[in-house]
Amino acid sequence: MEMLSMLKVGYTVLRSETPATDLVNTFMDWAARRSLLLLALFMPPYYVYKLTASAAATVAPQDVAGKVVLVTGASSGIGEQIAYQYAKKGARLALVARREGSLREVAAKATDLGSPDVLVVPGDVARPEDCKAFVQATVERFGRLDHLVNNAGLVNVCWFEEMPDVATFKQVLDVNFWGTVHPTHAALPHLTRSRGKIFVNSSAAAVLAMPRMSFYNTRGM
Ligand SMILES: NC(=O)c1ccc[n+]([C@@H]2O[C@H](COP(=O)([O-])OP(=O)(O)OC[C@H]3O[C@@H](n4cnc5c(N)ncnc54)[C@H](OP(=O)(O)O)[C@@H]3O)[C@@H](O)[C@H]2O)c1
Repeated sequence: MEMLSMLKVGYTVLRSETPATDLVNTFMDWAARRSLLLLALFMPPYYVYKLTASAAATVAPQDVAGKVVLVTGASSGIGEQIAYQYAKKGARLALVARREGSLREVAAKATDLGSPDVLVVPGDVARPEDCKAFVQATVERFGRLDHLVNNAGLVNVCWFEEMPDVATFKQVLDVNFWGTVHPTHAALPHLTRSRGKIFVNSSAAAVLAMPRMSFYNTRGM
């Protein structure tokens, strides 16, 4: 009862608007309405611009010969194939993942496909110190960084309520979310200098949450 009356008093204090709170509320109300209006005005042309830029990039793709490209999660799957596509176009590569043996096999094939120089840097994207180290190793080897491809990711398939220990999901976020944030943060000064690009391999699950994909549905955060 005592807690209830304290809450009531607090609520009454908040509700009794002083001229200052009144002013703040009026401003917030004004700003919120205008923000929505500005969004409605600027979002459509922005999306038209994005679509046009994307179509132009498809018709006339950037020449990546000689560019320095760091791919995370390059030891298998989509990251491995991304590395081969860059290699065919003559890009220099830094390949990152935890399994060094697999990375070396990918590096050998990328060299055969046409990459002039391939660096293998084992590392864990969930560890900020590893991310700093693999970005540093790339810049030391090639002198620059042009593209960062954030591809490393984990999939977990289960019902949320059936998971015995939800702490297990921490690893999914550590890799799928922080594993993109850490490399991007480490690479940003070099990408700014080279006016480079950042790619993030997201998932359709980020837009349309899938059943049993649980925390994987955060892949597009
Ligand atoms: N497959 C699909 O249908 C699909 C669809 C949409 C989006 N995606 C996304 O595409 C990305 C790649 O998926 P995939 O299907 O190619 O998966 P995959 O074959 O399992 O490859 C995942 C890659 O990430 C690496 N990796 C995992 N944890 C890592 C960590 N902590 N540090 C560094 N590297 C790590 C793995 O290498 P190591 O084990 O050697 O570290 C591997 O090279 C994921 O981000 C996924 O969310 C996949």
